[in-house]
Parts: sequence; C-alpha cells; structure tokens
Amino acid sequence: MNRNLDKIRNNKDYDIGILGLEDFKRKQKLYNLLKSQYEAELSELTHYMELLGSMQNNLIRTYFQTLLTDGLKHVQYISAMMSNIEGGSSSRALTSKGIAKSISEEKESRDLLYSCIEMTDDPESKSVLRSIIVDEDHHIKILEHISELIESSSSKQ
Ligand SMILES: [Fe+2]
Repeated sequence: MNRNLDKIRNNKDYDIGILGLEDFKRKQKLYNLLKSQYEAELSELTHYMELLGSMQNNLIRTYFQTLLTDGLKHVQYISAMMSNIEGGSSSRALTSKGIAKSISEEKESRDLLYSCIEMTDDPESKSVLRSIIVDEDHHIKILEHISELIESSSSKQ
C-alpha cells in the first residue's frame, strides 16, 4: 500500500517536473471530467439494462441493445484514457488478487442462481436460470485462465 502511495507521489512529482504545474492541473481536471463521464455512462448502462428486461417491442429492444453496446464501448475508451493518465500508478490494473475477487463474485452469483431455481416452479424460468449458470461457469473458467496468464507473465518479469 505504502509502495503504491510512493509510486503515485513519485508519478505526481515526475508529472509536475515534466509538464509544469499548469499542465499538471489541466491533466488532473481532465481526469476528473473523464471520471464523471465514466460514472454517467455506467448509470446509463444500468438504466438501459433494467428497461430491456421488460421491453416487448423488438425494434425498441434492438435500439436499446445498440445503446448498450455503444455505452460499453465508451466505458472502455474512457477507462483506457483514465489509465493512461494514472500511468504506472493505476489502481485499476489487472492483479491476481482482483481476479480472485471476480472469481468469487461469479461463484456467488452462481449460487444465488441455484437458489432462484429452487424457488420457482416455472419450467421456462428454470431453464433460463440454468443457461445463465452455464455462462457463469464459463466466466469462472475464463477468469481462472486470465489469472494463470497474469501469474506466468509476472513471474517472467
Ligand atoms: Fe458472469
């Protein structure tokens, strides 16, 4: 943790040294604006996803799916710009610990879905829930593979 703080501090000193104070402040301002936009995109995504669940009209569904795909793309672009500004001190970097957390979250949602299956008698709901569980199992395998990739690349450094 302290090492991270040092890294951020060093990065900041380095940036001020290279950029000058005004440019450094401008960069910080940009970062904060990007962060607000990032949060706005996330809340739009959540809202569209909620709407999509109850939407019957196919054309309107397709439109909302386009909004979601674009929103996801925007989140990725903005997030990449933020990481660039954060530089080596990025707290959003991929770590084995972060991946382990994601794996346990995926496992938790899988368990929750199993409980949902037990609570419903509707065969269609049961089968939809089962297909989501299959996806979650796949997500867990993907994350485990990512974790192996991170470990093998960090052991080479
Ligand atoms: Fe998942």
